[in-house]
Amino acid sequence: MTAKNYEAWDVQECDYPSQGTMQERMAFLLRYAILAPSGPNTQPWKFAVGEGAISVYADLKRSLPFVDPSNRTLFMSVGCSIANLLAAGTHFGLRPLVSYFPLGPESDPAAEIKFEEIRPQSGQAILQERDLFLQILRRHTTKDKYADRSIDESVLKSLRECIDQPGFHVQFMTDELSRSQMAGLVSRAHHAQLSKKEFRRNLGEWLRNNWTTEPDGMPLYTFGVPDAVAFGFPAAFKEFDLSDAVIYRDSGLIQGCGALGVLSSDQDDKTAWVKCGVMLERLLLKATGYDLYASFFSQPIGIPELRGELEAAVGQGHPQLLFSLGHATPVRHTPRRRLEDVMVK
Ligand SMILES: Cc1cc2nc3c(=O)[nH]c(=O)nc-3n(C[C@H](O)[C@H](O)[C@H](O)COP(=O)(O)O)c2cc1C
Repeated sequence: MTAKNYEAWDVQECDYPSQGTMQERMAFLLRYAILAPSGPNTQPWKFAVGEGAISVYADLKRSLPFVDPSNRTLFMSVGCSIANLLAAGTHFGLRPLVSYFPLGPESDPAAEIKFEEIRPQSGQAILQERDLFLQILRRHTTKDKYADRSIDESVLKSLRECIDQPGFHVQFMTDELSRSQMAGLVSRAHHAQLSKKEFRRNLGEWLRNNWTTEPDGMPLYTFGVPDAVAFGFPAAFKEFDLSDAVIYRDSGLIQGCGALGVLSSDQDDKTAWVKCGVMLERLLLKATGYDLYASFFSQPIGIPELRGELEAAVGQGHPQLLFSLGHATPVRHTPRRRLEDVMVK
């Protein structure tokens, strides 16, 4: 039997209320929105289902003041949930029309999505959305290790197409020099951040043991931490600087992945972060279709000096996320909050 905090993953396409009201159908789409990735599985989103539109809000109560002080990662995570919503809408025959920050960048909501019925003569673009939808239940983050397999240039080319809005970029790196440079940046960031108690405590709040009944946070099995060690690990992480162990794991992911990606944007504000999240999730879903899974390294972007070095290395926009892609063994999903708990009136 599925544990309550994993039940969200049991969503079934055949339960879509095709004969229901527009409101009932839109509410069903949210079941897919909540399966999106979020750093560090805070699920910082809220949704309101109106007459003909869904409003998506950032839940700032779930922010991490020491880890993500600008809420950049939080807004990107909200974007990831929007991407799932759009893919699910199109899959079920509802064309989405998105307005980002319709009341201005300093006001809620982060997005409003109207849906309209799609006529039968749907085109190639709609077919692609359907392909993305099929990967929502398969996608997961890989934090342990990759299989020793490279990624075809044709696959990277197809993933680049997901970053399709003007002012947004993705650059892939596969050479040894770039890997060493990126591993160096991540390692310096971990040393700087994990030496600070407030940072460790803030991040440690979101680590969970392997038998967690919490609806959020990162269970340690996703990092490959065995049951025997997992129980005391969150407390130890908050208390001691474990940067050497964390660097060892991340260096393995960076050196062993098929490709490293840097997502960047010309603007560096909430709207850009949300849109980055939308395109990131589209890229992750498409990658899942090729059996490729991602790991993320937000750390250097949280430190202005290291972010500057990353920016100089990619030479395009403000870096928003460093991530790796590669073939990996599927792992158990992470918990999700119940739909009722993320819906507002
Ligand atoms: C914008 C963003 C940034 C993230 N940054 C990190 C990171 O720096 N380190 C990490 O281990 N995971 C990071 N993650 C991955 C989350 O931890 C992961 O999505 C979450 O635990 C849920 O697990 P799932 O992706 O397998 O569903 C990030 C995810 C997102 C969307």
